[in-house]
Amino acid sequence: MKIEAKTAIISGGASGLGEASARRLAQLGAKVVLLDLNEDRGNALAEEIGAAFIKTDICNTEDVKQAIDFTKGKFGKIDIVVNCAGISSGMKTASKKGPHDLDYFKKVININLVGIFDVMRQSSYQMLQNDLNDEGGRGIIINTASVAAFDGQIGQVAYSASKAALAGMTLPVARDLSGDGIRICTIAPGLFNTPMMQALPEQVRTDLAKTVPFPQKLGDPDEFAMLVQQIIENPMLNGETIRLDGAIRMTPR
Ligand SMILES: NC(=O)c1ccc[n+]([C@@H]2O[C@H](COP(=O)([O-])OP(=O)(O)OC[C@H]3O[C@@H](n4cnc5c(N)ncnc54)[C@H](O)[C@@H]3O)[C@@H](O)[C@H]2O)c1
Repeated sequence: MKIEAKTAIISGGASGLGEASARRLAQLGAKVVLLDLNEDRGNALAEEIGAAFIKTDICNTEDVKQAIDFTKGKFGKIDIVVNCAGISSGMKTASKKGPHDLDYFKKVININLVGIFDVMRQSSYQMLQNDLNDEGGRGIIINTASVAAFDGQIGQVAYSASKAALAGMTLPVARDLSGDGIRICTIAPGLFNTPMMQALPEQVRTDLAKTVPFPQKLGDPDEFAMLVQQIIENPMLNGETIRLDGAIRMTPR
């Protein structure tokens, strides 16, 4: 699908991988709408790149509906969805302190899986009304999982469960929507240098970078956005989860 003049909504678009995707898509001529909790960053980025921002908690289904209605009202349709909203987690299944906090587990699943699914189901419903585009389809959805979907580390049980679910959904969603010409792919990033990663101490980040076989560095968020661009433009990419990780396989800790 050509990107120019298409409408893209980006959840988690105010920071990190979502921000990089927003910058690249806006630069390529897309009309971009950022959905995020972070109003300050969302508004500032929207102004800088000529996008729109709507404060959205993807866990609140009314918020998601409002964001989609806002996008349709402003641009008439939705062609592209890039889901980057998410949180990381750190708690063991059980430790001497007690069992994993169940509410915390549910919170991570609620944001990283249920919230993302809500954006997918509501936006794909809107895409069904689109006229056929230049590739003979009606839209594209890109989700962001993680290599933790496959090799989750100690303390990542909730995060890994949420991301593995996104990987698991990819083929059935592709099958559900194929008759209507909507594609979906999931990107499973390794280690990327974003505010989420910058929360870790510098030494930890340097050590992490050395664990990447090649190139031995943290990924640049624009390298994620490059794959977003390719998935949108290449009509044969559908129903697949793509690792983007410099060949890293995470160790237990
Ligand atoms: N950075 C990495 O190395 C890495 C690796 C693998 C996967 N990921 C995944 O990529 C995605 C983006 O990560 P990032 O590194 O850019 O993180 P980030 O923290 O920089 O950005 C995440 C954004 O999501 C938003 N967000 C969180 N909860 C939300 C909610 N309920 N509603 C709306 N917005 C919400 C935040 O406000 C933030 O702007 C996440 O899903 C993350 O799990 C990141």
